[in-house]
Amino acid sequence: MKLWGGRFEGGPAEALAALSVSVHFDMRLAPYDLAASKAHARVLADAGLLEPDELRSMLAALDELAEEVAEGAFVATVADEDVHTALERGLVEKLGTLGGKLRAGRSRNDQVATDLRLYLRDHARGLAADVADLATALAEQAAAHVSTPAPGMTHVQHAQPVTFGHWLLAHVQPLLRDLDRLRDWDRRTAVSPLGAGALAGSSLPLDPERVAKELGFHSSAANSMDAVSDRDFVAEFLFVTALLGVHLSRLGEEIVLWTSQEFGWVELDDAFATGSSIMPQKKNADIAELARGKAGRLIGGLVAVLTMLKGLPLTYDRDMQEDKEPVFDALDTLRLVLPAMTGLIATMRVRAEVLAAAAPIGYSLATEVADWLVRKNVPFREAHEITGRLVALCAARRIELHEVTDEDLAAVSDHLDPGVRDVLTVESALAARKTPGSTGPEAVGVQLGAVQRELKEWQGWAAGNE
Ligand code: ARG
Repeated sequence: MKLWGGRFEGGPAEALAALSVSVHFDMRLAPYDLAASKAHARVLADAGLLEPDELRSMLAALDELAEEVAEGAFVATVADEDVHTALERGLVEKLGTLGGKLRAGRSRNDQVATDLRLYLRDHARGLAADVADLATALAEQAAAHVSTPAPGMTHVQHAQPVTFGHWLLAHVQPLLRDLDRLRDWDRRTAVSPLGAGALAGSSLPLDPERVAKELGFHSSAANSMDAVSDRDFVAEFLFVTALLGVHLSRLGEEIVLWTSQEFGWVELDDAFATGSSIMPQKKNADIAELARGKAGRLIGGLVAVLTMLKGLPLTYDRDMQEDKEPVFDALDTLRLVLPAMTGLIATMRVRAEVLAAAAPIGYSLATEVADWLVRKNVPFREAHEITGRLVALCAARRIELHEVTDEDLAAVSDHLDPGVRDVLTVESALAARKTPGSTGPEAVGVQLGAVQRELKEWQGWAAGNE
């Protein structure tokens, strides 16, 4: 059964049908297509285009079909072309000619745009739950390491000591922004295209606002041509998932480093690590590597859809059928990666003693010396110079800053005296950092509290709260 054909003499060529078919991936939209069909049927009845008993049969058949789809009892065939065709076939099989009445005032163009919005809005909540779970696992590890010193880095070089809890929370903040982006995206996506028809609206007395409300949208589209042309919600969703993928990739990269022999900061739980087929001693962070690797396809999906859209004239063009696989793939990918990363983070063992021992290495307390000089009224420019000379002296002798003698200090500068040793411990450097958002244990405690409160709210949103 086709949804078109009246004006054609022969059937489609096999090559056309093979290229055109989308039912193998768009059947995912079936529950949403059926929900939209129910709303449309009610509006048709209100308009006097379906008798009350016809409406009852129609709604019952749509419910039955939904159940059969859920149970796998109704399966599409490749001859169905797409989800809309398949479901209309199912309806006609149940209702005969009555099944053919539902298409009045509606086109696959407004249907598919509606279905995809419904599908994505629904799945965005599940995705948000997974993101919130990962953020929660990170926050729980952070809670255990609020005052664990670690060697903070820039350029992968030891820079200044930080607390490991602060570091872990620095991976939570991007995830909180991802959640915020999802909610913001959802607000813009809550617009119903149904009623636009193919592009021009309908001459039938439909009620797009009522359909919109019934399907949980905030409003119906302001412009029927835009309603069927617009795939901003797809591109935006793919940007959110691509950026989320990038965040997971950066976290993954750090896990790979942290678990390496050279760092040795973190040990993975056996359940979240992999071995080698030839080297019996190996324990690899494959989850982290896959998280890093999958960012490629997430970014690819965004680029594919933007490129597909960029030259399209209004309104619907068949190119737009290419909008679905990238979002389905993005969701599938993230819903595999996120739980695995969450498990990895929740079960990893942080070797606090290794981190603490590494924290002062590499003259990471040099800034403390410069700041100590500044407090003694030495201009920072000069303080930087003096501290640089002190570091050079230490480097030449292969000693650390706190190992210099009183004579060494005096030789480097008149401004230096043994009192500087008070600032030459990691603990004092960390404790001194009290400003909001900084790495000191006190400030990290405040940040952690705020993060935990926000995560509770996000879990609520993921569960369906507005
Ligand atoms: N399968 C199509 C898609 O995904 C549905 C819309 C088809 N519309 C059309 N006029 N051929 O975009």
